[in-house]
Amino acid sequence: MIELYKVSKTVPSGADDLTILHALDLVIPDGQFVSIVGPSGSGKSTLLGLIAGLDAPSAGEIRIDGQSINEMSEDALAELRSAKIGFVFQSFHLIPSLTALENVLVPMEIAGLRDAPERARQLLGDVDLIARAHHYPSQLSGGEKQRIAIARAFANEPKIMLADEPTGNLDSQNGRHVFDLMLEMNKKRGATLVLVTHDHELAAEATRSISLRDGRVVSDSDRDAEFKETQEETVEVASS
Ligand SMILES: Nc1ncnc2c1ncn2[C@@H]1O[C@H](COP(=O)(O)OP(=O)(O)O)[C@@H](O)[C@H]1O
Ligand SMILES: [Mg+2]
Repeated sequence: MIELYKVSKTVPSGADDLTILHALDLVIPDGQFVSIVGPSGSGKSTLLGLIAGLDAPSAGEIRIDGQSINEMSEDALAELRSAKIGFVFQSFHLIPSLTALENVLVPMEIAGLRDAPERARQLLGDVDLIARAHHYPSQLSGGEKQRIAIARAFANEPKIMLADEPTGNLDSQNGRHVFDLMLEMNKKRGATLVLVTHDHELAAEATRSISLRDGRVVSDSDRDAEFKETQEETVEVASS
């Protein structure tokens, strides 16, 4: 479970401070597929970075599986990410000097997995890229690079997947393929999927959708549903 309590992020901006996220409360249960939408600059990437512990909040508390990450050392955070979190960025972040296979191997070797080479090949097969195993990122198309990035993010079977506009640089067919791979991980393995996307069709497939604007949650389909339920109950009570 991912929990955020009154999490805010403020950065210095000239003489003033700029608040990017305002006292955000958010609970994402295990296995949920939640989409995060909002205009550019609304704080989506900042939010994902905070959940991944890549960035520290200015105030508030973040917990992953009940464990507060605020006071964790860089090493402990790296270990937590390696064990539990897969991150997919818009711009792939592959290591250019390593082949597709080696890029997928890296996180497994860091985690000390035994049958790493076998599993890496299997993962490449899952994303239909076995034929590209020994190619370097510069020899791959955008869609292929993103599928490698996904295979790498899946390497340690993370229970949380954070994806920041993973289909943003892809045409719709490649985007769909990449999206389906993440969805499968969510459905088959019950991994939590937090997907930032501009694609409203993809966002609509999530079980929950959160809209950010100027660093605030302006709608949350879960809360909206709870709100409607409460209202319906009230109406029923009133009419009985
Ligand atoms: N390190 C930083 N220093 C200053 N401003 C930042 C920093 N990171 C993000 N911002 C600003 O915070 C706002 C939110 O950014 P971001 O989370 O990247 O939004 P989004 O992903 O929704 O486009 C933007 O106005 C951005 O310019
Ligand atoms: Mg962003």
